[in-house]
Amino acid sequence: LRSVFLGCGSYLPEKQITNQQLTEFVDTSDEWIVQRTGIKNRYVAAEGEFTSHLAVKAAQAALESAGVDAQDIDMIVLATSTPDNTFPATAVAVQNALGINHGFAFDVQAVCSGFVYAVTTADAYLRGGLAKRALVIGAETFSRILDWEDRTTCVLFGDGAGAVVMEAQEGEPSLDQSGVLTCHLRSDGRHKDKLYVDGGPSTTQTTGYLRMQGREVFKHAVGMVTDVIEDAFDATGTTADDLDWFVPHQANQRIIDASAKKLGIAPEKVVKTVAEHGNTSAASIPLALDSIVKAGKVKKGDLMMLEAMGGGFTWGSVLLKW
Ligand code: ACO
Repeated sequence: LRSVFLGCGSYLPEKQITNQQLTEFVDTSDEWIVQRTGIKNRYVAAEGEFTSHLAVKAAQAALESAGVDAQDIDMIVLATSTPDNTFPATAVAVQNALGINHGFAFDVQAVCSGFVYAVTTADAYLRGGLAKRALVIGAETFSRILDWEDRTTCVLFGDGAGAVVMEAQEGEPSLDQSGVLTCHLRSDGRHKDKLYVDGGPSTTQTTGYLRMQGREVFKHAVGMVTDVIEDAFDATGTTADDLDWFVPHQANQRIIDASAKKLGIAPEKVVKTVAEHGNTSAASIPLALDSIVKAGKVKKGDLMMLEAMGGGFTWGSVLLKW
């Protein structure tokens, strides 16, 4: 068996905050933010709008684009670091909202690498025969864990959700047909204090706020992502020239550009939504993917590299044929 992407969808909350609007409550400037990160705008969930609400809207769009009925889904895997509640899993709230009460649903937590981890998980389950059709979602409300008085972090993130539908199909993964070709995950907990939330159920019994050593993250990001991408090329005998699309996690324009340059990926193949969305953590890759699919740019059979790095540190890549 192999797993095939059938369609994708995404959702962004209505409210937007531009860099200019941020300057009204933190000491920053549009120029500083654009120059260091490429970010110009981010979306923020409304009061009472939860991660599961964004996830459901993205999931519905993905089901529609895939031409799949919700009742034909037997696995939901949702990547988030901002769940509705500590438990149950936000995936279960999504399952319920979609009217599904068969199969199984659970969350995956790998911060910004969450979507790559979730796709890898679904791919293994589908190829292993544990499920037939999976809804894989990245959904976040990082606005809720930002310290809005800390200019070094609050300017970087936004809220949103994206989803894909994956299906188990006959035949092994191969460059001759659609499907996931190879997945590579890594983590290294020695870096766990470089990007973290200073609260939690077992430590402080509070939700806490995101804390980050920005320079440290930046220093490791390019090397880590390029390593797992090279692993994917090596595993499949492909090269940067074979790629049609590079869909990186959208943290920062400079990390994306430096990674693409190091790998020799042509700029026109690099998907960038960071300017408009900010860093939406686990939602950024499916949001970026949906932007090119919706624009009609992706053809069946296109070769795509998904890639992310984030808190933990965690990092990983997924190479697939659309
Ligand atoms: N506006 C204006 N000035 C600011 C701001 C701001 N929003 N934030 C920090 N500064 C100031 C600092 O106080 C500092 O001033 P000082 O020199 O007087 O002390 C100065 O700008 C430089 O600060 P640095 O932190 O050294 O700036 P740097 O060039 O490293 O850029 C940034 C910071 C953009 C966070 C960078 O380190 C980065 O991109 N890191 C990667 C982090 C990231 O993307 N994390 C996302 C999560 S992980 C992931 O998704 C990959």
